[in-house]
Amino acid sequence: MARVLVTRRLPDGGLDPLIGHEIVGPHDDDRPLTATELCAHARECDAIVCLLTDRIDAEVLAAGAAGGRLRVIANVAVGYDNVDVAAARGHGIAVCNTPGVLDETTADLAFALILAAARLASEAEADLRAGRWSGWRITDYLGQDVHGATLGIVGYGRIGRAVARRATGFSMRVLHHTRTDTGEPGWTADLDELLGASDIVSLHVPGGEATRHLLDARRIGLLRPTAVLVNTARGPVVDEAALAEALHAGRLFAAGIDVYEREPEIHPRLLTAPRAVLWPHLGSASQATRLRMATTAAGAVAEILAGGTPTNLVT
Ligand code: DGY
Repeated sequence: MARVLVTRRLPDGGLDPLIGHEIVGPHDDDRPLTATELCAHARECDAIVCLLTDRIDAEVLAAGAAGGRLRVIANVAVGYDNVDVAAARGHGIAVCNTPGVLDETTADLAFALILAAARLASEAEADLRAGRWSGWRITDYLGQDVHGATLGIVGYGRIGRAVARRATGFSMRVLHHTRTDTGEPGWTADLDELLGASDIVSLHVPGGEATRHLLDARRIGLLRPTAVLVNTARGPVVDEAALAEALHAGRLFAAGIDVYEREPEIHPRLLTAPRAVLWPHLGSASQATRLRMATTAAGAVAEILAGGTPTNLVT
């Protein structure tokens, strides 16, 4: 029987693949573990099932290696920018994620953000709730049409493609940018060109240093003043301060944001920016998908502990 640290509460049934193993955690109040606690557990556990809010850095991994037991980190997320994968590799500790089980749910959410931002849904609802809506006027809340618009997808992996499939139902023209040619219609080699040619831009690149501030002030400036920017990827992909300034200055029509540079902190200028739909990292938040994410991560741990090699290995 192996000992598995589970850092945070998971959906009921999420740990079923680990029945028979000793589960340590989570705390009754579901609070995040401190760095010191993570290191202490890493020294004494064979596996860690963690969330993207846990920093599994070089120190935690070194503690795991020093304890001589830690074999696998399973992140209950498709992204793994919270895990120092290079350090894990150096210690021979496997890292797993949950690819493939949340694509459609995240694409649904991205599309909901596209619609909500383009049609000014948050602003209009806030007015209604605050009693500021005095009745239908032909000139109120005039958004941008989504149907027939040009959608620029940045990053064309599983989620980007799932968004593109939805877009065809809205008769949209779809462009996509990736560094290497996909050979598919709509591929645009130059990101700057895609930004300038799109009515709506949706980001689907992984997080990490390579994509940090991919949309910086200069690139945000390439977007059309009528454009809508949607980010369901990772917060640091967009320079939040620059985005907030573009919205305040009316240089960008609207933004739909689900992820932030310093979650759960939100840049104060973004909080007050007009035409910003701000959601709290909801991408994969459906009951079925969150359960599938948990069982996928737990299943990978069970497989590694049994001597197998799961398909969702990052390292
Ligand atoms: C992920 O899986 O990386 C998302 O951000 C949370 O679902």
